[in-house]
Amino acid sequence: MRASALAELGQASDGGELDAWRVKYLGRKGQLTAILRGLSSLPVEERRTVGAAANQLRGALEEQLQARTDELRNASSPKAERLDVTLPGRRGNRGGLHPVTQTIRDITDAFAAMGFQTVEGPDVEWEQYNFDALNIPPGHPARDMQDTFWLDAPESDANGSMLLKTQTSPMQIRMMEKTEPPIRIVSPGRCFRHEATDATHEWQFFQVEVLAVDEGISFADMKGTLYEFARRIFGPDRRVRFRVDFFPFVEPGAEMAIDCFRCGGDGCRTCSGSGWIEIMGAGMVHPKVLEGVGYDSEKYTGFAAGMGVERIAMLRHGIDDVRLFAAGDLRFLSQF
Ligand code: DAH
Repeated sequence: MRASALAELGQASDGGELDAWRVKYLGRKGQLTAILRGLSSLPVEERRTVGAAANQLRGALEEQLQARTDELRNASSPKAERLDVTLPGRRGNRGGLHPVTQTIRDITDAFAAMGFQTVEGPDVEWEQYNFDALNIPPGHPARDMQDTFWLDAPESDANGSMLLKTQTSPMQIRMMEKTEPPIRIVSPGRCFRHEATDATHEWQFFQVEVLAVDEGISFADMKGTLYEFARRIFGPDRRVRFRVDFFPFVEPGAEMAIDCFRCGGDGCRTCSGSGWIEIMGAGMVHPKVLEGVGYDSEKYTGFAAGMGVERIAMLRHGIDDVRLFAAGDLRFLSQF
């Protein structure tokens, strides 16, 4: 039976024939089933040997049936044409926002919630707006610290030469020139400096400027606003620290730090062991700056602040090299 069964199985060439073969040998009324059913009528001595042989044969036939079934299926559909509809689909590449863009949006959103409007300025700026109007006259050391890319411009122009802006602060001047208080704006923008690049310096980077001018704005307003901003960006438990700092266009000037959100202030790599992380410069708008745009500095006061976007993003995401942002490497960018 084994010989004829296997020979016939080899001849079977489609599902129907395989089925017929199965019924013939393994079906309820099949030849092998009949033998197994008849075991009980055999003498005890034979029962064991016949039973074992029949069971062994059944296992073998079932195995061969499966093998032949697979063989026929593979033969009938060449690999290239086989379609497995249960495979998950292939995902297309999706674009995403650059981490700097995401961070700018988070920053401007935090200020928008406090009534600040977002405005943007040009990348090519007048020397007058980038420096002079911000109380940084020619020869001031801040001009050295913020050396940049200068453009050929009409030399006689009252606004001086043209340059790629080194800070977003000139937007303070542009805004005040064309509006009357009250002013509450944030201004994100690209900045450029003549820098040797390293892990924390880039020759192009982003800042966000903050400016509020109105009657009666005080240093306390500045602290409260910037504190609320820090909590929105770095978490509600943040503490902030203001220390005296100097920027030509504010008086008094301050540097704002938050307590380290990684170590809680104990000191770690992120905060260089100090427990504090500096995140921006700020201060009360210098009376000279207000007078320069024609405001009465006895009537109006205001505060300004400026922060580096990459720095904020690096802190939030634990990024250790600023050069990654502009390198255009998708292995980096697609993580955000
Ligand atoms: N523009 C400054 C810089 O690039 C940052 C800054 C400091 C902006 C203090 C401000 C401010 O508005 O009040 O270093």
